[in-house]
Amino acid sequence: MHASIENLLNDQIKVEATASMHYLAMASWADAEGFSGVANFFYAQSEEEREHMLKLVKFVNERGGKVVVPALDQPTDKFTSLKALFEKFLDSEVFVTKQINTIIDTCLEQKDYNTNNFMQWYVTEQLEEEATARTLLDKLNIIGDNNSGYYLFDRDIESFIQPQE
Ligand code: FEO
Repeated sequence: MHASIENLLNDQIKVEATASMHYLAMASWADAEGFSGVANFFYAQSEEEREHMLKLVKFVNERGGKVVVPALDQPTDKFTSLKALFEKFLDSEVFVTKQINTIIDTCLEQKDYNTNNFMQWYVTEQLEEEATARTLLDKLNIIGDNNSGYYLFDRDIESFIQPQE
């Protein structure tokens, strides 16, 4: 495995781990605020990001690369509203997509078609996750500042939880 690819995959391990911890903090905030549906959504999302990280760890090891298990910064646990929570979710997913595209660019430059092929799974996953984040944010924009709207949002978000693989 080319060193530049190995470094980028290790960076991505950190990106996925960071997303997992951010979503855990978001789940915990929602739980404390009484939004149990939103909490379940982010608990599941946090678990998914951990799976994304693990998949990378295993791939780097299979390819004979060296995995660096990263130290992480403490995620924020201060949110002002559900809308702020979901804006952060969308920003985070857009950032992850950008990172994945950078890895793929480098794979093509280095003619590492194997890693490119592996990363295509992440491309599909990001498409879904960004679409979910945008849909949920659209719903919150429609709801505005309406408590019964929040109640329904919190109830209905459970249908967006993806079954674990
Ligand atoms: Fe694994 Fe949602 O990025």
